[in-house]
Amino acid sequence: METLQQLSTTAHIWSEAEEFIRLFHLENPSAGDPRDRLAAVRREIEESGTYRHTHEELVHGARVAWRNSNRCIGRLYWNSLRVRDRRDLTGGDEIAAECFEHLREATNGGRIRPTITVFAPEAPDRPGPLIWNEQLVRYAGYGDHPSVTVGDPRNRELTEALREIGWAGGPGTPFDPLPLVVQGCDDKPRWFDLPADAVLEVPIGHPDGDDWADWGLRWHAVPAISNMCLEIGGIRYPAAPFNGWYMGTEIGARNLGDSDRYNLLPVVARRLGMDTSSDRSLWKDRALVELNRAVLHSFDRAGVTIADHHTESRRFLTHLQREECKGREVGADWSWIVPPISGSATPVFHRTYEDRRQTPAYVHLPGAQERARGIDLV
Ligand code: ARG
Repeated sequence: METLQQLSTTAHIWSEAEEFIRLFHLENPSAGDPRDRLAAVRREIEESGTYRHTHEELVHGARVAWRNSNRCIGRLYWNSLRVRDRRDLTGGDEIAAECFEHLREATNGGRIRPTITVFAPEAPDRPGPLIWNEQLVRYAGYGDHPSVTVGDPRNRELTEALREIGWAGGPGTPFDPLPLVVQGCDDKPRWFDLPADAVLEVPIGHPDGDDWADWGLRWHAVPAISNMCLEIGGIRYPAAPFNGWYMGTEIGARNLGDSDRYNLLPVVARRLGMDTSSDRSLWKDRALVELNRAVLHSFDRAGVTIADHHTESRRFLTHLQREECKGREVGADWSWIVPPISGSATPVFHRTYEDRRQTPAYVHLPGAQERARGIDLV
């Protein structure tokens, strides 16, 4: 006997599934008429409470989820996302190993390839796997008072959680890559050190003279989000790390510049001999520009893919045009799309967008971190 709860979950999965299967067949005419597939999916849901995507459905679903990411300016290439289908993996150690392989393949010697690896979905009888880290590569944040923090303050909680499950800590530099914490299906969280050959980093120097070399600034090459759940047609894949390439401002303006991150604007200004005694000298603005020049220059020098915000803004407008030609509406969140520096010098600033939610989608699972933390560790 099914409980009411199970019945309503089944109804929900079916309605989402139906919508997705129709979309898949609409956008992939070679897949033919959707009727047979719809009937098969319906039967599978009635019998098992869930269904399995075909490989083609998974690939298209992951790509459309990117297309539907209202906060992402980089969606022009949504249809070329590489999809690594690892749905048969449920254990922490095999998932960690495949995350490392993901990093190697996505890094591709510096020619970054947008890639996603999809692990086991949630099932009616067991939870899906979970990655605690918000990205595959994150730097430790040590210390509990802002003024004594070493590293990235954003990751202080994760660093602390890692210590609780037995990690001894890194060497204590401002850029210690954190181990990956993976919770397999029905398992407790385990941590795995990132192999050195899986993490490409770029030393940051300034184009006008290299007195920044001794400073030791660096950043990792690949932004790989690992704590968002991929939702396709009523199925949830809570462990599905994905990456694109960086846009320079993410590092130069936000990660290194934000006062609650590496807070480097005062240091940059001092290094470049700026007068920081009054806001009206615009030293922060000038420091931001120099830091962003340094990031773009350094990635170029290292042969690592990075976009500047002018180019990426133009690409986004091309994306809007292309989608419009296909008769599809693009949702977007202005406050995320407009770059954090020189916004009005880019074309994406001078218009508005509809922030409509569409599925498939990448979503933050409410309570995922809490669920992770709630686990009995001993
Ligand atoms: N802003 C995040 C970071 O600086 C990365 C978010 C995803 N970015 C991307 N270009 N795909 O690490």
